[in-house]
Amino acid sequence: MNELEQVELSFNDDVKRVSNTKELENLRVLYLGKKGKITELFSKIKEIAVEEKKAFGQKINSIKTYVEQKINDLKNKFEEEKVKSEIANEKEIDITLPVSTGTGSLHPRTSLQKEIEDIFISMGFTVEDGYEVETEFNNFDAVNVPKNHPARDMQDTFWLTNGELLKTHTSASQNRILRKYNGPLKAIFPGRCFRNEALDHSHENTFFQMEGMLVDKDVSVANLIYFMKKMLSKVFKTDINIRLRPGFFPFVEPGFEMDATCTFCGGRGCSTCKNTGWLELCPCGMIHPNVFKNAGINPDEYSGFAFGLGFDRLVMLKTGLDDIRYLNSGNIKVLNQFGVEA
Ligand code: PHE
Repeated sequence: MNELEQVELSFNDDVKRVSNTKELENLRVLYLGKKGKITELFSKIKEIAVEEKKAFGQKINSIKTYVEQKINDLKNKFEEEKVKSEIANEKEIDITLPVSTGTGSLHPRTSLQKEIEDIFISMGFTVEDGYEVETEFNNFDAVNVPKNHPARDMQDTFWLTNGELLKTHTSASQNRILRKYNGPLKAIFPGRCFRNEALDHSHENTFFQMEGMLVDKDVSVANLIYFMKKMLSKVFKTDINIRLRPGFFPFVEPGFEMDATCTFCGGRGCSTCKNTGWLELCPCGMIHPNVFKNAGINPDEYSGFAFGLGFDRLVMLKTGLDDIRYLNSGNIKVLNQFGVEA
């Protein structure tokens, strides 16, 4: 009997020190396992005097039940605590909150757009807004591309069921801006354009252009050349030389493709300029008389030039990105590298 009390006392002592499920399991094995202290007590029954056997047996059973009960209670307690702490931890991860990945930055396209707009504004230009959904007239007819003109095929158009379209070039805004000022103007109009193109590293169906027009009396090609040189030197922050090649666009006459000295190799030849020393940057030309007429402006009184910067290409040149598709990808890892803080 003394031994029984000893076991009970030592259990009561041991159980106080148990603080987790693992320790509890060790305790269970120590008392109730095959060679456990209580299991061993059972084997002692046979050594007990007959008259004491019953009381001894009852006592062991009650100790065993007591120990099992205690262990079970503790097991439940630990389990409950575990669930509670998991819930408490989960509270800190609120999945309804927006995920924060640190300080955001402007898209490289946006930061370059701001930079270029500032340059133009410093040269007296206004920045005009354009539409993304345009009329067929503004996108084509107004800029001297009549129906059935083969030049319409140069631009694979997304037509809408109501006969309107997603603008294929920023030139779609020319007519509206010419009408707005109805005379001298200096304006740039950046905008998103759409063409039904097969995608590859240099073609996107959704891309950005930055177009500009300068209209006044007696504007000449010389003004165009001077202006483009100045403007590009500011954009690239170094002296830029340009050359003009003939280029056909129905809304300019004469029309040019304008190349700039390669900003990577300074004109010596490299992989970016395909060893020519020149970067094809900007179609441009003198505004066609029909474009003036379509906007109610007398082409004998006014003249002007227009240019269209392939804006995404410029972003690629500035960032060194070699795939235009990154720009619309929303790939934060790529885009953040060039970010300017908002
Ligand atoms: N709108 C022309 C294009 O998208 C570019 C351009 C603009 C050409 C202005 C000449 C003058 O291809």
